[in-house]
Amino acid sequence: MKPRMFRRSLIAGASALATALALLAAPPTATAAPTDYQAEDATISQGVVESNHAGFTGSGFVNYDNLVGSYVEWTIANAPAGPADVTLRFANGTAATRPLDWTVNGVAGAVGITYPGTGAWTTWVTKTVRLQLAAGTNKIRARATTADGGPNADKLTVNPVSDDVTPPSPPSNLVVSNIKSNAATFTWAAASDNVAVTRYEINRGGNVLKVVDANTLSATVDTLTANTAYDISVGAFDAAGNASQQSNVVAFTTPGSGDTQPPTAPTNLRSTGVSVNSVSLAWNASTDNSGSIAGYDVYQGTAKVASTGSLTTTVTGLAANTNYTFTVKARDPDSNASAASNALTVKTAATGTGGIPAYDRDIAKVDLGWSVAFLPDGSALVTERDRFEVVRVQANGTKTTLGKVPGAVTTTGEGGLLGIAISPTFATDNWVYFYHTASGDNRVVRMKYENGVLATTSSPVLTGLTKNRYHNGGRIAFGPDGKLYVSVGDAQNSGNAQNNGSLNGKILRANPDGTAPSDNPFFSTGGNARYVWSRGHRNPQGLAWDSRGQLWASEFGENSQDELNLIQKGGNFGWPACEGTIGDCGGYIAPKRTWSTSQAGPSGIEIVNDWIYIAGVTGSQLWVTQINSAGNGVGTPQAVFSGRWGRLRSVTKSPDGGLWLTSTNNDKNGGTPTVLDNVIVRLKFG
Ligand code: GCU
Ligand code: CA
Ligand code: CA
Repeated sequence: MKPRMFRRSLIAGASALATALALLAAPPTATAAPTDYQAEDATISQGVVESNHAGFTGSGFVNYDNLVGSYVEWTIANAPAGPADVTLRFANGTAATRPLDWTVNGVAGAVGITYPGTGAWTTWVTKTVRLQLAAGTNKIRARATTADGGPNADKLTVNPVSDDVTPPSPPSNLVVSNIKSNAATFTWAAASDNVAVTRYEINRGGNVLKVVDANTLSATVDTLTANTAYDISVGAFDAAGNASQQSNVVAFTTPGSGDTQPPTAPTNLRSTGVSVNSVSLAWNASTDNSGSIAGYDVYQGTAKVASTGSLTTTVTGLAANTNYTFTVKARDPDSNASAASNALTVKTAATGTGGIPAYDRDIAKVDLGWSVAFLPDGSALVTERDRFEVVRVQANGTKTTLGKVPGAVTTTGEGGLLGIAISPTFATDNWVYFYHTASGDNRVVRMKYENGVLATTSSPVLTGLTKNRYHNGGRIAFGPDGKLYVSVGDAQNSGNAQNNGSLNGKILRANPDGTAPSDNPFFSTGGNARYVWSRGHRNPQGLAWDSRGQLWASEFGENSQDELNLIQKGGNFGWPACEGTIGDCGGYIAPKRTWSTSQAGPSGIEIVNDWIYIAGVTGSQLWVTQINSAGNGVGTPQAVFSGRWGRLRSVTKSPDGGLWLTSTNNDKNGGTPTVLDNVIVRLKFG
């Protein structure tokens, strides 16, 4: 243990130098619980207490006078010296952000903090700044810096946080004993800390196997896997969350368990992409009586070509335009191999793909063909936005109208029958997914398409997406992870985009049955937030994945900039504070490319061999750009087919190595389809 440090009181009366030294050595202050301070109880300069907008706490809120310098000042008594998280609960029913400067006892603490529109005066949200408090009484002032005044202020929550920054020493003398096929015991010598150690974590590499309290110096981990190499270390933590360096590492391999029962065979082996010299594969997981799968072996004919712990791989070094047959087997930790999966035969692409495409031929004419999806048999299903009809279109142009999606309605704007996606397991489940406007919402549904017949009923998958005349989003697509991604517009209420409680202004991610995947970024929040994959979107209408499995999305801007975004899990893309690269963009993920809204109006997008194709509605042209070799940006986009077919709505790669492009002219107000005057054309590469 380190010697206890002197408290300041013990050296009262000593020299100034001694006092200064003691201040440096003072132990970290204790933290207190978060405390609420209502705005209506604070000192108000140029503002009034009101209660006419629901949702406030306490007895009301402060309406700042709309001028520079109006302020609310809270008095916080008995604060510990040190940092505190200070959270303002506010509402801003306007579209303009309302910045505040924060001072503590007259000293600038956090300046230029923005309080963007929340969508309505009754929509209250929080924003936190970190301020340094003095011991005792603090006057925390939030002062408006624009002529709009501040947002309506409900309350302040003050949460002192620890200023302990000293981590514990590393635990030492870690030893392992009693190694079994599924368990081992770890024993170590205690760490020390300037305050106190509060827990130990037993780690395998960067993963935590077990957490124990500070009094426990020996623990058995019983979740190990047989025949597996382990490198184990232990780390110590204090109450402030400071982590020690790791202890010494113990390395060992668990023995076999004597299990002789093989795993189940992998199922649904499928191709997720081909190039001239490679095939990308995915399959569904096996299970084993032991509880774990050690890995999968991928066979090309009888030769093993890959071993992996994941459910995908790309087989490379293949010849162009050639059939290859693949199977996958699972292995358990005792090296028992499963039976083979279904055999899958895939043909590599004929020639180089990607680059600037050329016109190949007309396929068919339809009415406002909004989205195209190809079936395993090589034909396409096309959605007609305003007729609500699903049309099967074959590569030779033969058209068959399959029927309407029940309950689809127009918004006399941009809504109607929009996106379509084929189930990745269509061969066994026959599901086709649609995004459409209904009487009370926008929704994703699925319908059976069996033996050439589209069912007359649909089952809801995801409902309650707010609709409006414009900004209905509408693209749906299955990712390489087998999840359904949905691009949803803000329904003309920009506040939705920042509110995780709303499904609008988002890219959503759902399981094929419409439940929320537990690895979604805001799953633990519950409610609609469980579905949010990324937020801060205005009207996204394009989704596509690159060769690295990264999701790219296009988005219509308001008055200045359209966007191409590289989507990140849980990412915030800034709408409405930030449009493209204009506005209040700090802290948001910037687009990889922007266009002026007259040039693009980017709806559907597609990626072929890491070339991105973007159907421009407003610009009436197809934009083409290539993802860079690092996979984190794109080259300068080039516009092709400018004006040739009018407003371009979708671009989709066809199984025969080309692109299908659809136009939606006369799509502005919707609702009265008459003639089949929009095209589907095929583009070719090379
Ligand atoms: C409206 C609203 C107020 C708000 C004010 C403002 O009057 O009802 O609550 O404070 O706008 O713009 O500041
Ligand atoms: Ca006001
Ligand atoms: Ca087994």
